[in-house]
Amino acid sequence: MIKIFSNLNYLNQFAAEKFIEIGREAIEKLGKFTVALAGGSTPKSLYQLLTTEKFCSQIDWQKVFFFFGDERIVLPNDGESNFRMANENLLQPLKISENQIFRWQTEIEEADKIAKNYERAIINFFNLKENPPASTSDSDLFPRFDLFLLGMGDDGHTASLFPFTEALNERRKIAVANQVEKLNAKRLTLTFPVIDNARNIIFLVKGADKAETLREVLQGEIKAEKFPAQTIKPTNGNLFWLIDRQAAQHLK
Ligand code: 6PG
Repeated sequence: MIKIFSNLNYLNQFAAEKFIEIGREAIEKLGKFTVALAGGSTPKSLYQLLTTEKFCSQIDWQKVFFFFGDERIVLPNDGESNFRMANENLLQPLKISENQIFRWQTEIEEADKIAKNYERAIINFFNLKENPPASTSDSDLFPRFDLFLLGMGDDGHTASLFPFTEALNERRKIAVANQVEKLNAKRLTLTFPVIDNARNIIFLVKGADKAETLREVLQGEIKAEKFPAQTIKPTNGNLFWLIDRQAAQHLK
């Protein structure tokens, strides 16, 4: 589903209502709600909206478990930290307890070790097999988040799955450290099979600077290495593109 909104406020209202709807359904059916948060700047105002009276009273936040789709290798109190952004704008205002928050332990610094630790934390939380036999089906191999929030960069990356990077081809691991030449840095990211295994995936995209890439991603030729966001296809779930008018201006 692609929905275009005249501005970010309307987009956030819809996204917050969807968050609550998906969350209440998961808690009713499964007893808990697992959500992978998006980083970057776009989701910040959505996180703030979820803490307002209108929304924060609509869900049992003690049954919500928070994960992060990707992270930068910076300390958790760094201005670049996706955890810090979500912590200040969502988790702390809602007084979410630490045992409901699963962040990348970036203070470890060694990228592959951070990724391995995060993978293990996810395997334990979702009761997955540690070293599954090759015959294991994807649904048993990967966590199934109830909601996976994503942004998209003006280069078509999503989470930290950047164009022409190694992580684009990862089909077994849950979490990896991805070398991103254009950033001259490693990023930490959950992988495509994990994202595609989610029950619901919501893209939040705003701004004219993304319009041309968004046209390519949604209506252009498939160029998976060049536009990683194009690859996101839920195996058994819902996909929502929530877009503001600026970002949608080139869509036919
Ligand atoms: C990150 C994100 C990344 C983000 C896009 C869009 O860590 O940067 O997870 O995938 O969603 O870069 O970023 P903006 O919302 O800031 O445009």
